[in-house]
Amino acid sequence: AADSQDTTSDGAPVVVAHRGASGYAPENTLAAVRKADKLGIDWVENDVQRTKDGELVVMHDTTLARTTNVEKLYPDRSPWNVSDFTAKEIARLDAGSWFSDAYAGEKVPTLEQYLRQINKSGQKLLLELKSPQLYPGIELQTLGELRSEGWADRAHLKDKLIIQSFDANSVKTTHTLNGSVKTGFLGNPKVSELASYAKFTDQINPTHSAVTKDYVDAVHSHKGVRGERMEVLTWTVNDASTARTVAKAGVDGIISNFPDVVRDATGG
Ligand code: G3P
Ligand code: CA
Repeated sequence: AADSQDTTSDGAPVVVAHRGASGYAPENTLAAVRKADKLGIDWVENDVQRTKDGELVVMHDTTLARTTNVEKLYPDRSPWNVSDFTAKEIARLDAGSWFSDAYAGEKVPTLEQYLRQINKSGQKLLLELKSPQLYPGIELQTLGELRSEGWADRAHLKDKLIIQSFDANSVKTTHTLNGSVKTGFLGNPKVSELASYAKFTDQINPTHSAVTKDYVDAVHSHKGVRGERMEVLTWTVNDASTARTVAKAGVDGIISNFPDVVRDATGG
């Protein structure tokens, strides 16, 4: 990757490629990660879920229908839940054609394949535990896989990995299982509730419409669970004007389908 941004440094917000550079390549595929790398974007966001036979895979929706050809291959398996398919069945799917013919044959990556790819490119990972209530134990399993792929060493824990979720319990569990991993809560709790969130997370990651300078200042006034200033990464910002607005409000990071647009608008 071209640069090496750190969410803890001052200056321009870190830019995160949402589901990879998903404005340009099919979301949550290795092609989207490679596209982010080509654009010089260090950080990629992905979504992790679990197959019927217990494999961690990278997929946003809890069903396979929108972003693969599963309906064609398995017409009688409605509603095509990720959790109803084995890893082998999912490996047969085309996760690129829905986006464009140029990406025909792109696969749904396993978390292992995904981690190996970004380790090779030197990119950094904002990993989202998606709908973790459907996958009991996914926090422990994900941490275990990160460890066995070399993502639990000091360098990765320092500034290459964040685990986030909309599910506060899942964020708490993740922190309890490994207090060295940086964590984020997806949402915008009231200012009066931030102190209680600071007891189990390091970041508050709100939708961009909830971002104001006052809100960001309020988050920054807390120390997160690992003792560092709490941070704000906001999503999903896809145009230059919104990017400038949230940068002005002082966010630490901006998550975008078009990360190059955001970087160019904010000087990141
Ligand atoms: O990283 C923030 C963003 O990914 C949360 O929303 O629905 O795209 O997973 P969603
Ligand atoms: Ca996500």
